[in-house]
Amino acid sequence: MGDHITRPENDFIPALRWEEPPEGPVLVLLDQTRLPQEEVELACTDVQGLVGAIGSLAVRGAPLLGLAGAYGVALAAARGYDVEEAAELLARARPTAVNLAYGVHRALGAYREAEPEHAAAAALAEARALHAEDAEASAAMAGHGKQLLAELVPGGGYRVLTHCNTGALVSGGQGTALGVVLAAHRAGELRRLWVDETRPLLQGARLTAYEAARAGMPYTLLTDNAAGSLFTAGEVDAVLVGADRIAADGSTANKVGTYPLSVLARYHHVPFVVVAPTTTIDLGTPDGPSIEVEQRSGAEVTDLAPSPLGTQAYNPAFDVTPPELITAIVTENGVVSPVTAETLAAVCR
Ligand code: MRU
Repeated sequence: MGDHITRPENDFIPALRWEEPPEGPVLVLLDQTRLPQEEVELACTDVQGLVGAIGSLAVRGAPLLGLAGAYGVALAAARGYDVEEAAELLARARPTAVNLAYGVHRALGAYREAEPEHAAAAALAEARALHAEDAEASAAMAGHGKQLLAELVPGGGYRVLTHCNTGALVSGGQGTALGVVLAAHRAGELRRLWVDETRPLLQGARLTAYEAARAGMPYTLLTDNAAGSLFTAGEVDAVLVGADRIAADGSTANKVGTYPLSVLARYHHVPFVVVAPTTTIDLGTPDGPSIEVEQRSGAEVTDLAPSPLGTQAYNPAFDVTPPELITAIVTENGVVSPVTAETLAAVCR
């Protein structure tokens, strides 16, 4: 991994930024493994460091992984590494979020197409373009998602349940599902955000609660397995989650624990909405079973839940929700509903 550095003296720390000090270009990441206790940044000066940061989840979340991948290629080019090899390493650093390989290939494509003396600059320009597009996509999804909420939950005063972390920490803008929640909050329409803690790495407790608190949202944290009782009590108006990969048939991989929420939502007649940019849609993956789900170390589970020495743990990072359990997918190009191969393809322009 890269070196930790003292953060700049300002209030807002972007999840990722490109710097060009005299010693050479650096990709600076807000280290998400240290939040919320510490706001420290991680300076990546080489591809191995960035691959380590991706693997440890210092940088994480589908859209941000796309940006990290693209800037990673730019870093390799600017620092004189073998760019093709770097691109391969980066694209394979995590398997499920399709944005990572997408970002890598966008920057690699620009690098390959440019004259050799301009290739590094072209890769960086492409990473910056993707960064700007992601911010624009966030804003568009927030608008579409807010309108959809008004249609699905007449009367406003929404009580929204979310899982994992999908805000500014994963995006060049305000994020996906949490970006919609933020827009509703700013319009005075959010009654409560229910935040699943998101075991075992606690992206909800550590990161979504951090973002919700900073934005002044009314939020309540719950253990993942408390969600059922919330539905039974009639306390959830809508479930809003992000996605790591959406297959051509609409099957959606997202943080493990998302699929059970979709089942609960269907049983309780509550809308279940996925918010994701079109860069998360992978028409090359036909269906749910074709999505590679990252399996992570069992130690992440046993570290959180002390258990007898030698206990094995099952720790898939994601699960897959079938399209028939998804009320709508909100993208920057509009809302897909019902979710079918045809309606999904139509939004991918
Ligand atoms: O393992 P993580 O923390 O990278 O998983 C992130 C998620 O599952 C998010 O919900 C997903 O990437 C959507 S982020 C907009």
